[in-house]
Amino acid sequence: MIPDVENELRLQGYLNRPIDPDLDLVEEILRLKKEKQAVILAHYYQDSDIQDIADYIGDSLGLSQEAARTDARIIVFAGVHFMAEVAKIICPDKKVLLPDLRAGCSLADSAPAEEFRRFREAHPDHVVISYINCSAEVKALSDIICTSSNAEKIIQSVPPEKPIIFAPDKNLGKYLMKKTGRQMLLWNGSCMVHELFSLEKITRLKMRYPDAKLIAHPECEEAILNIADFVGSTTALLRFVGKDSVKTYIVATESGILHQMEKTYPEKTFIPAPPENSCACNNCPHMKLNTLEKLYLCLFYEQPEIVLDEELRLKAYRPLARMLEISAS
Ligand code: 13P
Ligand code: SF4
Repeated sequence: MIPDVENELRLQGYLNRPIDPDLDLVEEILRLKKEKQAVILAHYYQDSDIQDIADYIGDSLGLSQEAARTDARIIVFAGVHFMAEVAKIICPDKKVLLPDLRAGCSLADSAPAEEFRRFREAHPDHVVISYINCSAEVKALSDIICTSSNAEKIIQSVPPEKPIIFAPDKNLGKYLMKKTGRQMLLWNGSCMVHELFSLEKITRLKMRYPDAKLIAHPECEEAILNIADFVGSTTALLRFVGKDSVKTYIVATESGILHQMEKTYPEKTFIPAPPENSCACNNCPHMKLNTLEKLYLCLFYEQPEIVLDEELRLKAYRPLARMLEISAS
């Protein structure tokens, strides 16, 4: 999602603001948070120093549910743009801040709203289920939103005779077709981080650590999911490790989740699944745009803020509210 010009300009001034090098950032963030009645919601893919200061850390579903239930005046969303946008759609009366407004998402970008509108119009009889990793405009064109932790339930809520469009993640879509036995028309989108894991290198790792289990996020490609011992959302992966008895895991998702895994289960070993090249491709460049410094500035100046047109917000709210309702039942 490309931020609008007004916000972009605000961002430019905001990013150049200096910080006193002697400031204890953690202490200041905690002080400002209290003074301003703010809550910090963070995704597992954020840097560990941000996770450690957050009031709530979760997956996309958990974060939207937490946004819906908080009574804070300000929500500081340590995640990417579509996630902060979801918080604003659900809580229009709260100030929602994103430390770096440029923190986008390759998956959300793979579904431009105008192309998606034409696709939807070409299949008027289909129910449109969109993965939460999409823009507010795409949400507004959808019937129900889902996340990786509730997608099966959402699909099962659609009467079997109704054809379904699933967007924008083709890997998650394919995985869900197998799991539910439901044919769906898939949008051709994907996440740049989850598409880069190397099957060959993972297979070699599995041979080197024969007792290790491979756990994977469903945004990974089919070949990786086919050899995984467990597939689930970030929260589901974390919970699986807690219930499972083995000691070593190869983790095929963004590397930020390893922090919570290592913190919660220090007796276990977690090996990040290797990507194709020798790059740090399993770090999401969008998520990593947020830093502790930007989080501090964002709380101090109460900028950059997520601003949404009310008509668009209301249209995007309807499918999100359906998701929250179905998830609660
Ligand atoms: P979940 O946290 O819902 O598993 O999704 C991961 C993701 O893609 C965040 O961008
Ligand atoms: Fe988007 Fe992938 Fe980054 Fe998640 S990990 S924010 S899906 S680009």
